[in-house]
Amino acid sequence: MEYKKGLEGVIAAETQIGLVDGTLGHLIYRGHWAKELALSYSFEEVAYFIWNGEFPTEGELVTFKEQMTSYRELPSYIKTILDTLPNEMDVMSTMRTAISALGTPAFAWPPTIDQAMHVTALLPSIIAYKYQKNQGATFIEPNPQLDHVANYIYMIKGQLPSEVEIKALTAYLILTIEHGMNASTFASRVVVSTESEMISGVCAAIGSMKGPLHGGAPSEVIEMIDEIGTIDNIEPWIRNKLEKGEKLMGFGHRVYKTRDPRSEALKVVSKDLAQESDWFNLITQMEQTAIDLLEEYKPGRKLYTNVEFFAAAVLKGLDIPKELFTPTFTSSRIIGWTAHILEQSQDNRIFRPQSSYTGQMPEQAAKF
Ligand code: ACO
Repeated sequence: MEYKKGLEGVIAAETQIGLVDGTLGHLIYRGHWAKELALSYSFEEVAYFIWNGEFPTEGELVTFKEQMTSYRELPSYIKTILDTLPNEMDVMSTMRTAISALGTPAFAWPPTIDQAMHVTALLPSIIAYKYQKNQGATFIEPNPQLDHVANYIYMIKGQLPSEVEIKALTAYLILTIEHGMNASTFASRVVVSTESEMISGVCAAIGSMKGPLHGGAPSEVIEMIDEIGTIDNIEPWIRNKLEKGEKLMGFGHRVYKTRDPRSEALKVVSKDLAQESDWFNLITQMEQTAIDLLEEYKPGRKLYTNVEFFAAAVLKGLDIPKELFTPTFTSSRIIGWTAHILEQSQDNRIFRPQSSYTGQMPEQAAKF
């Protein structure tokens, strides 16, 4: 057996949920282009589709939305736990702790779509509760009149969002629902392959997502654009970075060796959101100049913008605070995790790979 560090290139599962083709720049959810779903469907429609494998009828969508809305309410014991946790605990750890407390009989094995809806609907309320608590503000209770995405913005900002804001965040959330056998998705499948319940799988996934190598950092793109400051400074700033051998944030990807389809779709919605603001002009000019200069300094490496680049524009345009960037990403990826948990449970075999022992052997033969 050949050892593959990080399991690179190893196929760990068969799935019908999503396909990432980094050479062609394809991201497909159950036979549909993710970027088209992101620009034309609601968050609830895509969530339903990912979990059920088919789109809802009008009636099914109404019922689905009503159920999701009813699951947003934070149980009082979760509020008590959130009140007890120290403010300095980061949002991802807070989410992991609060979700862990849901490990009740209602979430027992086997995993169900209803459980997936429940935990997905609750997550934005946990994020908003923690955020408002850290601000010293009162929690803004979920608004049952609003759909999932609008309600999330409302609970964070305390204002009803515009249609453009809802469309932009919907696109970002749909585009980050699923991305193949990434570390957190794999972690969730490994945990439930032991027939442990969905909540344990989600907690493992949140823990995995928290790591800086996975959870992403669109905030670093914002810092980079702020540092560049003016259009005249773009080229000298980039040359200086590349000559020092430093990387440009939001460019390059381990899988995509062409344009990241998520970046393309986010560019469309962030443009509507920014309405030609100076900051947006700066980021779009930076994109083109950087692609040209990356080809000059790193010929043939095929470096383009990744999802983080225009995610930064969307999240900045929405005024989402930086500490909520990874939690917001998590609030959509939980749909991918729970879909994989359901899929794993339907044709389960416990994960049990091998390790290659590189330690010492005893000096003498065993005595008994
Ligand atoms: N800026 C400048 N040069 C780059 C960049 C970049 N952003 N990305 C890759 N390169 C160069 C590397 O220096 C390397 O050059 P070399 O061949 O002369 O050594 C070559 O391109 C290949 O790069 P690798 O790092 O080997 O590519 P890998 O696939 O391992 O890395 C990664 C992908 C980590 C995303 C990398 O492109 C990077 O660090 N980008 C910047 C950080 C970033 O945007 N992260 C978010 C990724 S998206 C996500 O995680 C959801």
